[in-house]
Amino acid sequence: MFAGFKGLKAYIKSTVQWLHKQPCNRTQGNYNTELPSYYLLPSGDQIPSVALGVSKASPGDVGQAVTAALKTGYRHIDGAWTYRNEEEIGKAIKESGIPRDQIWLTSKLWTTFHAPDDVEPALDESLTKLGTEYLDLYIIHWPIAHKKGGKDELDVALTANPYPTWKKLEEMVDKGKVRNIGISNFNIGRVKNLTGNPLKYQPAVNQVELNFWNPQPELIEWARDNKLLLQSFSPLGGSKRAKETLNVPEITEIAKKLNITPAQVIISWHVQRGTVVLPKSVTPSRIEENFKIFALPGDLFDMLETAAEGI
Ligand SMILES: NC(=O)c1ccc[n+]([C@@H]2O[C@H](COP(=O)([O-])OP(=O)(O)OC[C@H]3O[C@@H](n4cnc5c(N)ncnc54)[C@H](OP(=O)(O)O)[C@@H]3O)[C@@H](O)[C@H]2O)c1
Repeated sequence: MFAGFKGLKAYIKSTVQWLHKQPCNRTQGNYNTELPSYYLLPSGDQIPSVALGVSKASPGDVGQAVTAALKTGYRHIDGAWTYRNEEEIGKAIKESGIPRDQIWLTSKLWTTFHAPDDVEPALDESLTKLGTEYLDLYIIHWPIAHKKGGKDELDVALTANPYPTWKKLEEMVDKGKVRNIGISNFNIGRVKNLTGNPLKYQPAVNQVELNFWNPQPELIEWARDNKLLLQSFSPLGGSKRAKETLNVPEITEIAKKLNITPAQVIISWHVQRGTVVLPKSVTPSRIEENFKIFALPGDLFDMLETAAEGI
């Protein structure tokens, strides 16, 4: 178990205070709750704390999922070039009638486009498919660069040093095509490798796997200390383990005590840990369920944290 558990608990409190600008104020039964509905980024932008994830949301499914999410109140869609569903997402957003500036749109640069000359065309393709002139957030999807057109052939230089790719992303911010830039799947060493360069814009987020089976308390604490917002991907354990996660005894016990669902327990836990959470669903009832988050009382939060770290 992570040695700094007590420190982590104190950190959770301070992180929520640090990141928190405007609380959610939701009530269920007698249980009054407050968790941040968004976090403030270095750019001054406010990123909503709960997003709809759309990886493996197939054509035909993803549009209705985005429509259901926007109706529910989601204003954050976590997409990527490689999910190959950006056109349908763009159409659903347009049809919703919700002004573009009220929706947070993220996309990600795939590993085959890290060469500086390939960044802008890849971004432009996402922008065109999504039917938008800018992204709120553009993320380097993986720290690994592959040669364009090569069959998984590693680009050794750009993998060892992602600064040329980052500089191009900074240029995209200056051109107004992207408002914030970030990274994904970077461990601490790789983050330091990037931020050791004279960056014009620091990474706004690091999107990483965080869930009951992989809670990464050290990374969470390091990111807090270094003011780097984390985004929790596969928050329910991914499609392969979601069912198992939702049946963890500590999670079902907390759900019962608070009269909320196991999915709401786990999604709330991620926000209470100070991260943006990206649950994926194409099922309207689940999309609605996943959007309702509740601050877990300290003892129940600690119980879940301990259970996750003890895995
Ligand atoms: N940066 C990266 O490398 C990376 C990697 C992985 C994921 N991501 C992002 O993170 C998002 C989420 O990750 P993920 O898709 O791997 O996993 P996840 O959100 O942990 O789990 C998704 C699975 O849980 C099911 N589910 C959702 N809500 C549920 C509920 N309330 N009750 C029961 N089952 C529920 C979904 O089923 P249905 O859809 O059938 O409802 C789906 O099978 C992705 O969509 C993507 O945006 C990023």
